[in-house]
Amino acid sequence: MEHQTIPLAAQGSGTSLQRVRVWDRFVRAFHWSLVGAMAVAFATSLLLPKEWALIHVIDGTACVALVAARLVWGWLGPEYARFAAFVRGPAAVIAHLRDIAAGRVHRHRGHNPLGAAMIVALLAGVVVLGVTGTATLGGTLKSGPLAFALSFATGSAAREVHELVAYAVLGLIAAHVAGAIFESRRTRENLALSMVTGLKEARSGDEVPAAVPAHAVLAAILSVTLFAASGFAVATLMKRPALGAPVGALDASYKKECGDCHIAYHPSLLPSAQWTALMDGLARHFGENATLPAATAAPIRSYLTANAAETFDTLAANAFRRVSATDPLRITAAPFWQRTHDEISDAVFKAKPVKSKGNCAACHSDAATGMFRPWNIDIPEVVK
Ligand code: HEC
Ligand code: HEC
Repeated sequence: MEHQTIPLAAQGSGTSLQRVRVWDRFVRAFHWSLVGAMAVAFATSLLLPKEWALIHVIDGTACVALVAARLVWGWLGPEYARFAAFVRGPAAVIAHLRDIAAGRVHRHRGHNPLGAAMIVALLAGVVVLGVTGTATLGGTLKSGPLAFALSFATGSAAREVHELVAYAVLGLIAAHVAGAIFESRRTRENLALSMVTGLKEARSGDEVPAAVPAHAVLAAILSVTLFAASGFAVATLMKRPALGAPVGALDASYKKECGDCHIAYHPSLLPSAQWTALMDGLARHFGENATLPAATAAPIRSYLTANAAETFDTLAANAFRRVSATDPLRITAAPFWQRTHDEISDAVFKAKPVKSKGNCAACHSDAATGMFRPWNIDIPEVVK
């Protein structure tokens, strides 16, 4: 029988074409895990309330770990996974764009140069999000490996960058999906499906990278070593005291004398001038007489002013420091407090077990520490 060649016009529509393994198991698992983890990251920051912050942090860590493993695999994996095999310079990207513009289907069996540039941008985006996220966590919430080093101001700046980059990555993801759809139509092969099965059609004229062996065991050892070393470094850094965060329990005498009628408020929740005014007016304390003997009042006054909002760098201290001397002597009257709690209905504050706006500990399990971290917020079930 005569040797048959597939007519050019039939190329691509061919069901008769042989399918070959292009995306290995790790690359596919990585791809779809990152899709899931990024979806969780966006949901826990843009859609769900603050209480999800810890899930966001854990999920973000998972994203960075995935990318780290992918980088190892991009060095030691098989040819289709290797960065050296598919990452090209701008010239190749331009040539690829020219092919598209001219309607030429020059097929890369692995990633095409444009797709490769997108992958590099996305991986870099996740790394930048990991770094800025860790800086935000350290500076603003005084948690994580950078808490010992970063001020609230640095953390806030990192947060701005983190948000900007997150929106940029969201844009890249949209472009990546659009690109995959476009390329699927152009080359008449479902690329999303091939990222599930790992198979792509082997067409004549495909650009194919030179085969290289994968070093799976070495890659696994390197990844695990990397994770263990990073885990150890993070744990070591987290042992250091957080910059500008209060340490230790509330002063015992203060807690005893001022924690009877309401919770003993952390001293970082009002500026020093406000505590002084409050201690001066104990005889007319919100309609109560809360006068203390001078010998008891003096050390409490010193304790409160020495640990007032100006002396710490936590989120709460930074917010309550702005309370001015003319404002009412209430934490709950501070514009910051009103703003952050304006979505909570009065019914919640009035009902048991909250009973009053000033009962911070009913919703913030870490109220006594002055930290008010978002993952320690839990509005209790209202009892009628
Ligand atoms: C006899 C009871 C009593 C004692 C003792 C007492 N307080 Fe109060 N305190 C009150 C009442 C009542 C309010 C108003 C609560 C409200 O309106 O929800 C209040 C409110 C406050 C607030 C404002 C809370 C807010 O809603 O923002 C602060 C701050 C405060 N007290 C500090 C102190 C300090 C410091 C001491 C100790 C020197 C002290 N209190 C002792 C009864 C007391
Ligand atoms: C009825 C429950 C409730 C009470 C009582 C309450 N809070 Fe809150 N608080 C919340 C919730 C819910 C949030 C998160 C609001 C949001 O999503 O922005 C919050 C947010 C905060 C934040 C900002 C946390 C962050 O990460 O941005 C601070 C600080 C704070 N509260 C301090 C206080 C203080 C101080 C008191 C007492 C004077 C208090 N809260 C009383 C429920 C409560």
